[in-house]
Amino acid sequence: MDASSVENDLVNILFTEEEILEKLEEMARRIEADYEGKELLVVGVLRGAIMVMADLSRALERHVETDWMAVSSYGSGTKSSGVVRILKDLDTDISGKHVLVVDEIIDTGLTLSWLISNLSSRAPASVEIATLLRKPEALAMPVTPKYVGWDIPNEFVVGYGLDYQERYRNLRCIGTLAPHVYS
Ligand code: PRP
Repeated sequence: MDASSVENDLVNILFTEEEILEKLEEMARRIEADYEGKELLVVGVLRGAIMVMADLSRALERHVETDWMAVSSYGSGTKSSGVVRILKDLDTDISGKHVLVVDEIIDTGLTLSWLISNLSSRAPASVEIATLLRKPEALAMPVTPKYVGWDIPNEFVVGYGLDYQERYRNLRCIGTLAPHVYS
C-alpha cells in the first residue's frame, strides 16, 4: 500500500521505501563483514519484522539460516503492557550458533531485552540484534543492538511491518500516525 492511500492518517512520512531498502543494504554489508567465515542464523520476531526479514535477508550476499519467534508484549493499544510471552518458539536448536535477532523497532526495549536473555540461556555462540528503528527516549530496559537503521523520536509510527490495531503493516513507507486515528 502506498502512502497516498492513507495520507489523511499520517502526519508525515519518516522513511520512504527506497530509503529503507538503501539502509538495509548498508546493514547487510556490515553483517557480511562481521560474520565472515561464520554460520549465521537470522531470527525474525513476528509479526512486525516480516518486511525487514524479507528485505535484509535478501540483501545478504551469503547463505543464512532463518527462523522465527513470536512473542507478545503489547495489548491492542499503543502502550506496552510489560508482559512478554512466547507464542511461537524457534524450530532450531541454537546451541553453538551465531544468532542475529531481527526486529523492526526497539521501543521500550522490553521485548528484546527479555528475548536476548531467553536466547542467551540456550548456549548460542553469540546473540546480537539488528533493528531498523530505535526510540532512544522510550528505552526503559538495557538493550544494545549491534545494528540500528535509524533512531527516531518517541512518536507512534506505522508501516513496513509496524501496525496500529493490525492495520498499516502493508504500508510501503514508515510514517507517523496522526493522533486522530488513535485518540
Ligand atoms: C513490536 C515490535 C517489537 C516490540 C518493540 O512488536 O515488533 O518486537 O513491539 O517494543 P518494546 O521495545 O517496547 O518491547 P509487537 O509486540 O507490537 O508485536 P507485532 O510485531 O506482532 O506487531
